Amino acid sequence: MSFETVRLAGDAVELLDQRRLPEDERYLRLETAEEVARAIEEMAVRGAPAIGVTAAFGVAVELARLPDAELNEEALERTVERLRGTRPTAVNLAWALERMSRALRAEFSAGAPPARVRARSRELAQRICEQDRATCRAIGEAGAELVSRSARVLTHCNAGALATAGYGTALGVVRSASRRGKIRTVLACETRPFLQGARLTAWELARDGIPVTLITDSMGGALMARGEVDLAIVGADRIAANGDVANKIGTYSLAVLAREHGIPFYVAAPLSTVDPDTPSGDMIPIEQRASEEVLTLAGRRIAPPGVEALHPAFDVTPARYVSAIVTERGVIEPPLAEGLARQLSEAGLEAGEGT
Ligand code: MRU
Repeated sequence: MSFETVRLAGDAVELLDQRRLPEDERYLRLETAEEVARAIEEMAVRGAPAIGVTAAFGVAVELARLPDAELNEEALERTVERLRGTRPTAVNLAWALERMSRALRAEFSAGAPPARVRARSRELAQRICEQDRATCRAIGEAGAELVSRSARVLTHCNAGALATAGYGTALGVVRSASRRGKIRTVLACETRPFLQGARLTAWELARDGIPVTLITDSMGGALMARGEVDLAIVGADRIAANGDVANKIGTYSLAVLAREHGIPFYVAAPLSTVDPDTPSGDMIPIEQRASEEVLTLAGRRIAPPGVEALHPAFDVTPARYVSAIVTERGVIEPPLAEGLARQLSEAGLEAGEGT
């Protein structure tokens, strides 16, 4: 990968500012948990696994900065709560923070000195980052099996290297399939209003030399009807225990259209995106973002003054529209609930454990 989405550099988190892409490749340097929390809220970094990794680094830099006298369990919990509240839908965020919190609480309980707590926080955050990269590669390899020869692959939003610590989930599958010579083109939905497809998916695929064709969000159905889409693959922000999938707004419509046209609709995500404590999709909290983001385009207002806008950032695709879910442990075919439970249990992650 010729860029890094997020990294720990000394006592700071550095991240590629995704609001500036594709024009500008600029890294932000963040030295406090508050700065990291704002960067997540303002979408300088986004994508479920990437914000989990970033938040874990946020804990590490905050603990590095606090004076010894203030380094205690309360400060840890305050930091974790601030970061956890930044974006509600992506469960990877809560998952990464829970891992950090559990490990560091154990250090405090054991009476570990401040230097030991700090070292442990860096080491664990780094491990979460490296594991995410390895997980994405495994998802890519497993998912590439599902891709037919010379495939035209539709995707929505950005579930790529920019949305993870590297390689990507849905785009990880595309990358692995591309290495096997299977990709004719990736049809990237532009993904209003933040334009993750137009700005980010197009940028990272073009950079890797993978053919990409940009389409507007409303073109998917017509292309499917004309036989110009072979399969669709997206990422996920949270997968409920029954297999319902929360992902970027617009995903649900594409899944229904894919079913109508007999096109496979795949979801690629790490097991950390599966939330066994959420039984079904209607219980997934959907982030409501500022209407301003819909009322403007590239910083310019596009609607008349006084007009209101809705902005649910995610939707839920019922499990019945999902042909298969690809995780780092392999492909899960329907019934999804059983396959998810089996993989979670094999991985030692059960309900109530804050996977
Ligand atoms: O609002 P975003 O850009 O964070 O939404 C991202 C998505 O919906 C992705 O598809 C999802 O997080 C999966 S990323 C591997």
